[in-house]
Amino acid sequence: MFQIDILTIFPDIFNSPFAEGMVSRAKDKGLVEIRVHNLRSFTTDKHATVDDYTFGGGPGMLMKPEPFFEGVDCVRKTYPDTTESRIVLLTPQGRTFKHEVALEFSGNKGLIFLCGRYEGVDERVAARLANEQVSIGDYILSGGELAAMVIIECVVRLLPGALGCSESLTGESFSEGLLKYPQYTRPAVYRGMEVPSILLSGDHAKIAEWRREQARLRTRLRRPEILAEGSTVSVDLP
Ligand code: 6GU
Repeated sequence: MFQIDILTIFPDIFNSPFAEGMVSRAKDKGLVEIRVHNLRSFTTDKHATVDDYTFGGGPGMLMKPEPFFEGVDCVRKTYPDTTESRIVLLTPQGRTFKHEVALEFSGNKGLIFLCGRYEGVDERVAARLANEQVSIGDYILSGGELAAMVIIECVVRLLPGALGCSESLTGESFSEGLLKYPQYTRPAVYRGMEVPSILLSGDHAKIAEWRREQARLRTRLRRPEILAEGSTVSVDLP
C-alpha cells in the first residue's frame, strides 16, 4: 500500500479533500494510506512553538527545524521499510510540479510531505532532511498545505486501480504531451450551438484524426512551451 504522511501545523485542512471523491475511494480500496501529523505534537516546550525569529534579522518568522526532524523520525519508526519514502518539502523555491513529477512520485513506496509556511523554513530542513523541494507554480500560497493536496490528488489517481473503468489516464491532457481535444455530449444542438458534425459522423478514423489535430492546435495556441520542451508524440509545426 502506498503510504503518505503529511507534517503540518494545520492538520484539519486535509479532512474534506481526502474524505470525498477519488482519493477517498482509493483509501477504501486499500491502495493508499494517508496520515496527517500535527507539527506541534513534535515540540517539547509548553507553548508548542514551531517558529522563531530569523538569525541575521529580517521580517517574518521562520519554521524551526526540530518539529520537522522529530516528526520525520517518528513517522519513519512506524514504517516496515523506511528507505523508499521520499521526503518532499513544499516551498515556492522548489522545482515546479508537473505530470512527469507525479509519475515519478507514484513509483515510490511512499511520500512524506513537509508543509512550510511562506515566510520560510530553516534551511537545514530543506538541505538535510528533505530529499527534494517542490512548488506547484509561480505564485505564493500562505503555506504548503494546498500544494500538498494538489500533489497528493495527482499522485493517487496514478496508482494502479485508483480510477474506475469509466475514467482513464489515456488521452488525458499531458499524458501524451498535449492538451486534451474539445469534447461534447448531448444535446447535439444547444441554444443554437452545434457539436462539430464530424463527431456525429460515426467515422472513427476521421474522428481520431480530428481529435489529434485539435489537440495539437490547442497546445500550440495555449501552451507552445509544452511543444518546445519536446512531447512524447511527434508534432508537425508549420
Ligand atoms: Cl509548495 N508553497 C507555497 N507556500 N506557495 C506555493 C507553493 C508551495 N507552490 C506554489 N506556491
